[in-house]
Order: sequence, then structure tokens, then C-alpha cells
Amino acid sequence: MLESLRSVVKFRRFEPNPVKRRLNGAANVDDLRSIAKRRLPAGVFDYIDGGAEDEIALTNNSEAFRRIGFRPRVLRDVSSIDTSVSLLGRTTPLPLVLAPTGFTRVADTQGELAVARACARRGIPYTLSTMGTRSIEELAAASDSVPWGGEGQRRLWFQVYMWRDRGLVRELVERAAAADYEALVLTVDTARLGRRERDVRRGMTLPPKLGLDTIFDGIRRPGWTWTFLRNEPIVFANVATSSAAGDIDDGSRAVDLAQHIQDQFDPSLNWDDVEWLRSIWDGKILLKGVQSVADTELAVANGIDAVCLSNHGGRQLDGAPAPIELVAPCRDAVDDSIELIVDGGIRRGSDIVKARALGADAAMAARVYLYALGAGGELGVDWMLDFLTDGVRQTMALCGQTRAQDLTRELLTEV
Ligand code: GLV
Repeated sequence: MLESLRSVVKFRRFEPNPVKRRLNGAANVDDLRSIAKRRLPAGVFDYIDGGAEDEIALTNNSEAFRRIGFRPRVLRDVSSIDTSVSLLGRTTPLPLVLAPTGFTRVADTQGELAVARACARRGIPYTLSTMGTRSIEELAAASDSVPWGGEGQRRLWFQVYMWRDRGLVRELVERAAAADYEALVLTVDTARLGRRERDVRRGMTLPPKLGLDTIFDGIRRPGWTWTFLRNEPIVFANVATSSAAGDIDDGSRAVDLAQHIQDQFDPSLNWDDVEWLRSIWDGKILLKGVQSVADTELAVANGIDAVCLSNHGGRQLDGAPAPIELVAPCRDAVDDSIELIVDGGIRRGSDIVKARALGADAAMAARVYLYALGAGGELGVDWMLDFLTDGVRQTMALCGQTRAQDLTRELLTEV
């Protein structure tokens, strides 16, 4: 009996590292999300997870990917698979860029530094947000602190909001240039902050206020609370380190994000400002938040290097189109005159393959790494990037495709 018992019982080897042990239980990004939900205060989780109003755009972003199927080919020798593509004129190991997110340190105290290191190890470009909680210079140093994967050269992009105070924008852009950032990503979909009703209900501020309700919630998440209280305060690191910011709130007092954006961001933003940005920056310029063929064509006419087809992860205009559905019409309208990046709903390697096959140069993703940070910090981001990379390889192998550069719409059922 002992013999037959031995033949059927199998224990996993004990993993001494508690974070790895936690991640070992995950099979996909949904699992990272569930772990993050358990570990983060409810208000923080909802800020990351939620979308605008009825969350139709948020849901539709993922649903649109599910509607696209594959037309696999077989017997095509897939023993060697090349996932690299060209992006902004340089080879990148995977058609993927990590998107900017504000207040990343609410998910993990290392915040953007953890994401930058995980990306650097693989040569994947990463975009720091203006509203980031690590500074332009700190992030560059973190990237340089690990051996670079990919081409072996740093790829950091900097996201810009158009502040009413152009002096602050100019200063941030000059700092990004001095720190050798490759590209500026101007966000163009945030004339006002979307109405995120999960946050409205909770009176969510950034950083989260420790009120009675949050203290109760914090007691139930002692790991997060202990780390939050023990580490340096979470602030808008770029604004806090700016000499041009004057009395602009740097997040050292809890701010209501919607009010802050209404006070600070310039709703008169238009193509003239894009031209102004061009006049103060010599590198590549991307527009993030383009949601139509017409604006993609205008981006070409205005000499933009790439557009990010994006509805801000369903966090701005509810009912906005699913960005993945814009890829084919935009590509058809502009041919190869501009690079297209698509974000919103990327959860698996197969989503990246679909984006590329439709005509995007790369996919962009944010929530995946916020869930990963919440689930396991930097190790979580490593886990997630390996998961997506392997997912791209897996999908390509099962579709009979060997080169990510060569993926076309023929591979897809619904376009
Ligand atoms: C900021 O850009 C946000 O989506 O919260």
C-alpha cells in the first residue's frame, strides 16, 4: 500500500522565498490580479483595477481581444522563434512597451524602479509617468544598475502631461533629455480626468488618506500598511524635484486626482502645443490616447513618430472604442508612414500576437505590471514579463509562425 501511495503522491519542492512561493501559485495575469486584490487596500486596488463610469470601455477592451481568433498553420518547423521587431527604428526583443502609470508606489514601495529594472533586464522599453513616484534621474540610474537585455542599450521613455505651467513642462523635458531618455509620450486624452466611480464612492485620494475606513482596511492588509508607513512618503517625484514647480502640489499632501488635474492640466491642449513640444525636444515624440483614424492621419501630417491607440485603459471616456479595433483601420489609412502602438486589455502573449498581426508595431500594457507589483513586487514584474514573453512564443509556435516581424492579418479570423 505504501508503494502505491508513493507512486501517486507528489509534493512540490518547498520554496523558501515567500514571494516566489506566492507567485508559484499563479498561472496567469488574472491570478496576479487576485493576489494583488488580497494584498492591497481596497481603495488602492480599485484605483488600479477600475475604469470610468459604467466601465463599458474597460470591459470592451478585453472583450475585443476575445472576439479575435487565429487561423493556425501547421507543419512549418517552429523549432526556432524570433519575437523581435523594430520599434522607433531600433530592434526590440518583444513587441511590447510598458505604459506610464501615476502613483505606482501605491502598488509596491519600489514602484517604478522595480518595473524599470525588470524591463532593463529584458531590453523592453518602459515609460515613466509625469505623475510617477520616482524621478527621471532615479529611474535612469535604476535602469543602468542591471545588465541590459535586448540590444544592450537603455530604452526609457518619458510621458508628459501638458501642465498649464509650461515652465514645468519645459524643465521636465530638459531633464529627460539630460538623462538620455529616448522618447517623449504626450498624453492627449486627459482634458479632464475620467469619472472613476469606484474612486468617487471611496473619496479616493493619492496618496491614500489614512482615515477610519482605510485604517480598518489597512489592519486587514498588514503587509502593505507596514511597508507604506515604514518607507519614505509617496509623492509626485518629478514635480517634487522640480525647481519650476513653484507651489504646484507635489502629492506630499493627499490630493484628489480629478481636482488636481482640473487645476493643473491645460484643457486648451491642441496641435500648436505639439509643435511647441517639438521645438524643445530633439528625440522621438509619441501621442498617447489617439482614438480615431482622423487623428492618426493628423499625427502623420504633424510629423509624429508614433501614436499609441489608447483609451487610457478604459479610465477616461466610457464608450470609447476598443483600441485593438482601431489598429487595422488606422494602419490601412496611413500605411507605414507612422508607427502604431496599441494598449488596453493586454493580458496574454496571444494578445500581443493579435496586435502585431493586425498591423501594430507593438502593444503597450500597464495594469499587468501593477497587478504584478501588488502580487509580488519586482519578482512579480519579472514573472509577468516572462509569462507574456512565453505566451508570445507559445502562440506563434501553435500558429506555425517563426518571426514576429512577419505576422499578418491572414493569421486572424476576425479583423
Ligand atoms: C492617470 O493617468 C490615471 O489613469 O489614473
